[in-house]
Amino acid sequence: MLEKEINDFKNDEKSSLQSSIEEVEKNKSKPMGRKVFIRTFGCQMNERDSELIENMLIEKGYEMVLVPEEADIVLFNTCSVRQHAEDRVIGNIIKLKSRKKKNPDFKIGVLGCMAQRHGEMLFKEHEEIDIVIGPSNIYDLPELLPKTEDMEKILAVDKKSRPSRRKIEETGRKAIFSGFVNIMYGCNNFCSYCIVPYVRGKEVSRPKNDIIDEIKDMVNKGFKEVTLLGQNVNSYGRTLNNKITFPELLEQINDIKGLQRIRFTSSHPKDADKSLFRAMLELDKVCEHLHLPLQSGSNKMLDLMNRKYTYEEYKEKIDLLRSMIPDVGLSGDFIIGFPSEKDKDYIETCNAIEQIGFNSSFIFKYSPRPPALSSYLIDDVPDEVKKERNTGLLELQKKISKARNTELIDTYQEVLVEGTSRLSEEEMIGRTRNNIPCVFPGTEELKGKFVKVKITGTSITTLKGEVAQCEGSEAS
Ligand code: 5AD
Ligand code: SF4
Repeated sequence: MLEKEINDFKNDEKSSLQSSIEEVEKNKSKPMGRKVFIRTFGCQMNERDSELIENMLIEKGYEMVLVPEEADIVLFNTCSVRQHAEDRVIGNIIKLKSRKKKNPDFKIGVLGCMAQRHGEMLFKEHEEIDIVIGPSNIYDLPELLPKTEDMEKILAVDKKSRPSRRKIEETGRKAIFSGFVNIMYGCNNFCSYCIVPYVRGKEVSRPKNDIIDEIKDMVNKGFKEVTLLGQNVNSYGRTLNNKITFPELLEQINDIKGLQRIRFTSSHPKDADKSLFRAMLELDKVCEHLHLPLQSGSNKMLDLMNRKYTYEEYKEKIDLLRSMIPDVGLSGDFIIGFPSEKDKDYIETCNAIEQIGFNSSFIFKYSPRPPALSSYLIDDVPDEVKKERNTGLLELQKKISKARNTELIDTYQEVLVEGTSRLSEEEMIGRTRNNIPCVFPGTEELKGKFVKVKITGTSITTLKGEVAQCEGSEAS
């Protein structure tokens, strides 16, 4: 009897020892308490990816911190569109070098487009980097990150086209009322200056039902506005078996109960057409704003850029859009100093900006991006000339933006309040339906609400006003 009890006791001890060992082994790969800081560079897709990454890491037990000094792991979600964006990332990594030397447990990761573009070279040139993950591999990050604890260098840049891995990319959005929704990844356009098709791979559309389910889930959580993201949203659906066009997708999203605003970016002028404009006109939730990058007013430049439209064709589309939606907000992107750009081409771009009367423009100095095709052309516009042209276009756009905004004085605009203005704690800021920033006196309670604002003035880029009516106050 006694012998049996002793054996049982031994067996109990053995199994409890065994489970303790298993627990220790399991915890080895658990990141409990590891603090992560993510810095995001570049476009809205990267912002969205960083939200997804944060969310996946929090699910795994990591803790997010707001400053790199407090972090055990610093991740850079990077952009390769211009050299300047890459230089900033490298500058940040170099700043962390001495900290890494003192503490090898401190980890540095490069994610996104630079990771895809440079791959293993990043480890060779900057030995302090521990992990390099391309935009299509971000879903692997939670699994791969713990491996760096064994001093392994981790590289994952194998998939060029993004799989739609999660049916619903539902969580982790920073705001609780307005959020980005990926509708497609990659790009097939190969504009000659652009690195995106090389680092983000071939265009892939997300299945319609996944997008709809995700937005319904957002609405259930209180979201009022979505911004649909894709490099060229107008070609949405082309890669899907069940053919669907972008305007058809808009129509179905417009039917989602409780959703109040739909935005989208970016559109390509060669694909934006009357069916899109009609959707913008007829679907009440689709905001009256179009971001339609022109890039240059010179047909010679547009041809060299492989944009597949002329300025005249672009202008014709805008005329049609304005005939349908006169108060549509219009923004554009421009590249100045593209190889062989002469004064004449630059002047044509100035004329185009003036003639179209964009509400706002993003103006970029050309930056060669190997292996994008234009990198084989001589980058022959001197930097001073690029600077001069850049300043010239900015000044011109400022003048036009101010004039456009002035036209809105004394009108009433619907604004979704985003938060406190950066310039004054007593003012709140939000955007009109046609995507113009608007500030007005108010308090934090308005955040996430719709207000009707009477426009009383304007700075160069931002409308000023007073709240005339606030969401929820209509009945009183
Ligand atoms: N140089 C300068 N600007 C560029 N863009 C894209 N590639 C380059 C480049 N190589 C700009 C385009 C695009 C925006 C997102 O970035 O204007 O629309
Ligand atoms: Fe780049 Fe052109 Fe694709 Fe836009 S449409 S991501 S500029 S290749």
